[in-house]
Order: sequence, then C-alpha cells, then structure tokens
Amino acid sequence: MRIDVVTIFPEALEPFLRSALLGKAADKGLIDIVVHNLRNYTANKHRKVDDEPYGGGPGMVMTPEPFFAAVEAIDAERKARVVLLSPQGRTLTQDVVKELAALDSLVLLCGRYEGVDERVAEHLADEELSIGDYVLAGGEVAALVVIDAIARVLPGVVGDPESVARESFEDGLLDHPHYTRPEEFRGHRVPDVLLSGNHAEIERWRREEAERRTHQRRPFF
Ligand SMILES: C[S@@+](CC[C@H](N)C(=O)[O-])C[C@H]1O[C@@H](n2cnc3c(N)ncnc32)[C@H](O)[C@@H]1O
Repeated sequence: MRIDVVTIFPEALEPFLRSALLGKAADKGLIDIVVHNLRNYTANKHRKVDDEPYGGGPGMVMTPEPFFAAVEAIDAERKARVVLLSPQGRTLTQDVVKELAALDSLVLLCGRYEGVDERVAEHLADEELSIGDYVLAGGEVAALVVIDAIARVLPGVVGDPESVARESFEDGLLDHPHYTRPEEFRGHRVPDVLLSGNHAEIERWRREEAERRTHQRRPFF
C-alpha cells in the first residue's frame, strides 16, 4: 500500500515513520509512505500557505492552491483516496481502518491553524476523517494515528496474524486482560486459571472477561 502525506511539518512525522513497526513494514516493502512538504507546492516566493479568513475572525486559514497542486503532482491520475484530516470528518474506527487498508493508495492532507479553505474539502478531498471528537493543533498526529492503525492490519506487518485477529473490536468485543511474569507482583496474583494449563478453561475465561469488559466499557457495542 502507498500512503502520501501532505504537511507543513514533514520533519515531525519522519522519525515516527522510520521507527518500530512502521519502519520494519517499510523495510519489508509492505507499505510505502512518502511525506511531502506542502510548501514545495506554493507559487509565491515566501512559500506562504495561509491567509486571513474572509469575513474576519481569529487566526489564519490554509489556502487551497498548494493542496490542489500537491495532490495533482502526487496522484496525477486521481487513483488514490484523498482524505483531509479534520475534527469534523467521519470518525475513525477499526472498521474504517480496514476499509482504508484495502485501498492501494491513500493521500492524507494535514491542516493547521484555523483549518483549511473549505474548497479543499468540497472539491479535492474524497472525504474528511477525524480521529475523535477533540481538536488537535494539526493533522500530523492524526495522520500518524491513521497510518499506524492501517499498517497493523496489512498482511505481514504484525508477525503473528492471530494477534491482530484476536484484538479489541474484532467480533464486536474488547480484548481480554493479559498477564505475564511474575506470577505475583506486589501481592497481586495472576488469575489461577491462566496457570492451570487447561486450554479450554483458559479460552472460556478469556471469552467471559472480554464480554464482561465490553459490557462495562462499551455497552453500546
Ligand atoms: C486547530 S484544527 C482546526 C479546527 C477547526 N477550526 C474546527 O474547529 O473544526 C487544525 C487542523 O488540525 C487537524 N485536526 C484537528 N483535530 C483533528 C481531529 N480530531 N482529527 C483529525 N484532524 C484533526 C485538521 O487537519 C485541522 O485542519
């Protein structure tokens, strides 16, 4: 899968994209992520990407021209899904992650300041996507969230596919609790069933715990 990210802060994304799971996925050729500096697509000599809002009011608004120029350069044939990160967009869920992970190519547009001129949402982006109902200073962290979640579900990225298949939101359930050594830590013991060696009992306990948690924490599932 190919993902292009358009931002005024490419240096903020690159270290994360090169590390851990994402770095390994890129090294193995499972995902190809290219970060573009929006300022490279400006036509003015100061590489300015924002201007005052029409109608007045606080802050600056990102101008449409560099976003259009960037997408037209990156994806001339318009084959990729173009997504504008925005707190007002469709909320990211695991189902949306899987939908995006099935695409061949995705372009993520990161806003800043008061946001992006509305013509980008209306006439350039295929959709607006939010990572939750709160406002971030910019789309960069949101883009990393989207990329990290997509990468985990791409075949071959996570070593053991069962670990992805058994996670929260699969089967409409949250994951069961996990424990590792030591058996007792500061007086808190690992549940006996996990030490019993009885695999059927362990599976039953895990299922019950997953259901109990889901009922308590996400009763609307
Ligand atoms: C300060 S925000 C703009 C908020 C906008 N004025 C509003 O109230 O809806 C600047 C940029 O951060 C990004 N952003 C902020 N919150 C986000 C969220 N929850 N999900 C995705 N992107 C977000 C978007 O790219 C947005 O253009």
